[in-house]
Amino acid sequence: MKYSKYSVVIVGSGAAGLYTALKISEQIRLPEGILLISKSALGESNSRYAQGGIVGVVHQNPDDNADLHVKDTIKAGAGLCDEETAEYIAKASDEVINDLITTGVEFDKDENGELTFTLEAAHSVRRILHSGGDATGKGITDALVRAVQNDKNITVMENTMAVEVLVTADKICEGAILFNKLTGEHEIVYTSALVLATGGAAQVYKYTTNPNGATGDGIALAYEAGAIIQDMEFMQFHPTALAISPDSKYRFLISEAVRGEGAKLVNSKGEEFMSRYSDKRELAPRDVVTRAIFNEMQNENMPNVYLNAGVIGEEKLAVRFPTISRICSRNGIDISTKPIPVAPASHYTMGGIRAEVDGKTSIAGLYAIGEVASTGLHGANRLASNSLLECVVCAYELADYLSFTNLDSPEKIDEGIKKMIDVYSRSISGDSYNVDELKSKLKNIMWNNVGIIRSEQKLLEAQKEIEILKSEFKRRRKCLNQGEYEYRNMLIVSSLIVESALSRKESRGAHYREDYPDTLPTALHSNIVRDDDKELAYVK
Ligand code: FAD
Ligand code: SIN
Repeated sequence: MKYSKYSVVIVGSGAAGLYTALKISEQIRLPEGILLISKSALGESNSRYAQGGIVGVVHQNPDDNADLHVKDTIKAGAGLCDEETAEYIAKASDEVINDLITTGVEFDKDENGELTFTLEAAHSVRRILHSGGDATGKGITDALVRAVQNDKNITVMENTMAVEVLVTADKICEGAILFNKLTGEHEIVYTSALVLATGGAAQVYKYTTNPNGATGDGIALAYEAGAIIQDMEFMQFHPTALAISPDSKYRFLISEAVRGEGAKLVNSKGEEFMSRYSDKRELAPRDVVTRAIFNEMQNENMPNVYLNAGVIGEEKLAVRFPTISRICSRNGIDISTKPIPVAPASHYTMGGIRAEVDGKTSIAGLYAIGEVASTGLHGANRLASNSLLECVVCAYELADYLSFTNLDSPEKIDEGIKKMIDVYSRSISGDSYNVDELKSKLKNIMWNNVGIIRSEQKLLEAQKEIEILKSEFKRRRKCLNQGEYEYRNMLIVSSLIVESALSRKESRGAHYREDYPDTLPTALHSNIVRDDDKELAYVK
């Protein structure tokens, strides 16, 4: 099998991966260079579709400060945020956001050339920077992609998927197996620093705001490699995704910023209902608004509620929300005059690979940055627009950490790793599985049983059905194509969500158990590590 060697290998080209590559290139001279791989085209990612914005606790905003931001983050996080992490990220925000501006990101400004800040749920002040109105993700990723393409220290491999993390028996990461989806070939890459920036896993649910690539690959790979996986029961369901028809599984996001600018939620009778659920009404924390909408939908037996954005005014809607206006208009809805049908959809994976602010995981040489990581910033319910901030601050910190780390490759290849590699040089027999059908079965199981409202009975049902799917899917490690690898990873991640949800016998933030509606006095993280003796050991 073909192999190569790089000082640092970054997997994923969303905000976290792109910015990590740039910062490392800027800070460190590496003899064996930086490799950035992406299973998509460069920059294609969740990051690209981010709408509302990025939290900017910046000196340009006199109304805000780090303490206020930390308080809001912790309050929304329902007792589970890591306070130190929240403080660190809030304090680093000014430097990193201004560095993004220097890198070429153009945030929206007013007629005087001053940055403009919007409001989103559970923020006590206007602090969200945006770009292109509601196209913040595109504004950020386009600028970062341009910078990466101009950086001679970074080698880019597109359409290439990481399918296994290579770890020694002593839990040292020494590289990864890659799969090129265009040629169908596998290859090995050795490195002393493997950075997973592969994003979240919201695609394991039937209805999601996430693009197809969000299949939780990094979480599954790290779990298989023996890393600690934290808080997987906390999947954030965004309250307002466009719900044109029950058949359209991809739910285009209607940004929280639309509510931040004054839009109101109404049920099918046209009644505003949020005051019955929270005195913060439309701007209550996301988990609260999601459950309120879900409850209204169930009570009325309706597939959606509505968002009235007309109050914002036609002119402002066109400037602030051009993308949302365009997509809705394409679907026959003039948002300045007509209510938008909306329903919740899976949106953000708050759990993931347990990591520190600088990306260190429980495996030496393996780092996790962005949505794939669980740093404890988001607790049980992420505060809107904190995720992009977390991506860039943690990337910045990782580059700093690596600049003091020995990145020389080991002299010879570990015996255990040689055996892992062997699996990929053997051919596999049989036809490809119909992964679209299999993914769809799994996504239904997750939506119906592991969704917004959970119970022991439903979770056990999901556990049983996922076990059947696993037993029917015979691939353990090497697969035939990208779809099979993604499905393998989705099975692993779904099991992690179910197991964590079963073990959390309380309701907290995004994890709501109707059989345990109360919140326990002490907030604890849930951690899972693969153990060959336990049922969860799936792939190996
Ligand atoms: P991603 O941006 O998802 O990037 C992951 C990358 O990894 C992709 O390039 C993918 O192709 C690649 N990849 C995945 N698996 C593999 C593999 N096995 N091998 C190789 N490559 C792989 N957050 C905010 O803060 N503000 C917002 O306004 C906002 N709006 C959002 C709107 C939408 C519609 C969505 C879906 C999310 C939004 N979020 C927002 C959340 C935010 O976009 C994400 O949390 C954040 O962008 C994650 O960035 P990331 O770089 O960690 O992952
Ligand atoms: C949104 O614009 O509503 C998404 C913001 C986020 O997920 O942080």
